[in-house]
Amino acid sequence: MLTRPRRNRKSESIRALVRENMVTADDLVMPLFLVAGKKINENITSLPVANRQSLDVILKEIGQCLKLGIHSFIMFPKIPDELKDKTATYSFNPKNFYLLAAQKIKKKYPDITLISDVALDPYNTDGHDGIVEDNEIKNDETLAVLEKMAVAQAKAGFDVIGPSDMMDGRVEAIRDALDLDGFPNTSIMSYTAKYASAFYGPFRDALDSAPVNDPSIPKDKKTYQMDPANANEALLEAELDTLEGADFLMVKPAINYLDIISLLKDNHSLPIAAYHVSGECAMLIAACQNGWLDYKKAMPESLLSIKRAGADVIISYFAKDFMKLKLNQKVSL
Ligand code: PBG
Repeated sequence: MLTRPRRNRKSESIRALVRENMVTADDLVMPLFLVAGKKINENITSLPVANRQSLDVILKEIGQCLKLGIHSFIMFPKIPDELKDKTATYSFNPKNFYLLAAQKIKKKYPDITLISDVALDPYNTDGHDGIVEDNEIKNDETLAVLEKMAVAQAKAGFDVIGPSDMMDGRVEAIRDALDLDGFPNTSIMSYTAKYASAFYGPFRDALDSAPVNDPSIPKDKKTYQMDPANANEALLEAELDTLEGADFLMVKPAINYLDIISLLKDNHSLPIAAYHVSGECAMLIAACQNGWLDYKKAMPESLLSIKRAGADVIISYFAKDFMKLKLNQKVSL
């Protein structure tokens, strides 16, 4: 035998020498769920690694993450029902607690990267990412709200705007609105290939943002999120987002869509972000809690697979535990 690949696997030292991929703190984005109030740190039953937290707790959480080397965060608000309406007007109200929280976070930690969420679902009574009329999600009417939301978020100090709504033309609409309002340096991380996936369940539990059960409201998001069967369509979305001025292209979910991550990485020059979504994390946690998988091994392997597929940025609820393991600190589920 001339070639024995096992020679390059014979010791940890040699394996480390030839290792092709590595996840570092610089790759990771930690998701945060913000609630109004003080001293709130609630468990999310279907997503045991994440909590709903009030601003005071989130400020401490960011401090802990920074000590682990994590410096990028994506924040989502849980909006009380009484602040929701058909057209999500609270989303751009300057007194919105999410916007005020962003201001305080950036004041305390000016050097972090803070990513927003732009979509109507946390704020509207229908639980859809756009405006619902005649049993339909209205694309162009929604763009006007997304623009206002994005500008309000840029004003609050978010470094990166994260449109997760999947309306057509939203990246260009948001880019134009930001530029016109004097925010040419605010970036856009576009949810480019966001699939109508069954793996968002725990996130919708966390924010109480699922489409409401009403015959006059579409029951799922399939008319705007992508069909899980499609890959070419991801190339079209990526082309459009690039032309419309996105700074990052995101694939979501991640683990079930590693082929799409690698397709976009191979065909596009913008950095690729991957969202390791709530259901993908919940599934792994459930198996680990049952003793069927080893959390300390299976969790890092999942993040590594996302990196190997071509993701430059990994958004994962495991970010903090991943870094703790890397730094030989204790983790518990
Ligand atoms: C909604 C939004 C969703 C997620 C991020 N932004 C859910 C959805 O589209 O219904 C899911 C994230 C996750 O599951 O971790 N705009």
